[in-house]
Amino acid sequence: MKSHVKRLYVGSNLKMYKTVQQTVAYFRGLDDLTRDIPESELCLFAAASYTALYTVSAELSKMRVYLGAQDLFWEDTGPYTGAVSPIMLKECGVRVVQVGHSERRRHFGETDSSVNKKVRASLHHGFTTLICIGETIEEKSWNVTEERLRQQVKIALNNVRPGQLSKVWLAYEPVWAIGEEGTPATPEYANRMHQVIRDVLMVKFSNEGQFVPILYGGSVNTENAIEMIAQPEVDGLYIGRSAWRATEFNLLIRQVRSVWLEKSNSD
Ligand code: 13P
Repeated sequence: MKSHVKRLYVGSNLKMYKTVQQTVAYFRGLDDLTRDIPESELCLFAAASYTALYTVSAELSKMRVYLGAQDLFWEDTGPYTGAVSPIMLKECGVRVVQVGHSERRRHFGETDSSVNKKVRASLHHGFTTLICIGETIEEKSWNVTEERLRQQVKIALNNVRPGQLSKVWLAYEPVWAIGEEGTPATPEYANRMHQVIRDVLMVKFSNEGQFVPILYGGSVNTENAIEMIAQPEVDGLYIGRSAWRATEFNLLIRQVRSVWLEKSNSD
């Protein structure tokens, strides 16, 4: 089966590295560099730190790059010290909300169940919601990767209605592939796991499930991005380190775009 996703999806998770001014400069640079690529062809986004969101959307109007947040809390208001609600993110001009990144699961006690609450809150408020899933190295060594992915997808999307699915994106990010210590998944491996994820979506949502973009993340760089996007089941890339300079990210985007165009024209 081939993916029915009609655009290329490329984004960066900026994690906790940039100041407000650095984030503004990054978005400005990326926006200028990629303006010529039609939005109908490329969906480009970056998830910034909370502190920078408001300034980015206030200083850069009509951005081509979608502004993303790295997390949210599920309640609108209340005694939740330190949390940021969907209403607050909306006020900051956010369009995409990332939920369930493995670093949130690892360092901040995020669970499948809290991911589900966040996904539902995010969709309820109309955000495009990027759900991150992926197996740990232990799960891979125990040979339970596919079960784990099925479980993560099913729980994250529990009580999500088919009509809300057009705002759901998934990022498959094997935990062992992410960051300095990570080893990128082989394109074939990523493709197989994307197929597993697609199958769950199709079983749960029938036809609607075929349009959900599934992005690969974990040590994507200029060496492996082309082969990764050439895979039939890989609809996009979610990138950390190799996308944190707008100029380098732009080059990577153009490389993958030409491969993606070939892939989609061969359909
Ligand atoms: P790296 O590309 O730096 O491995 O990070 C990927 C990631 O965590 C995207 O969410």
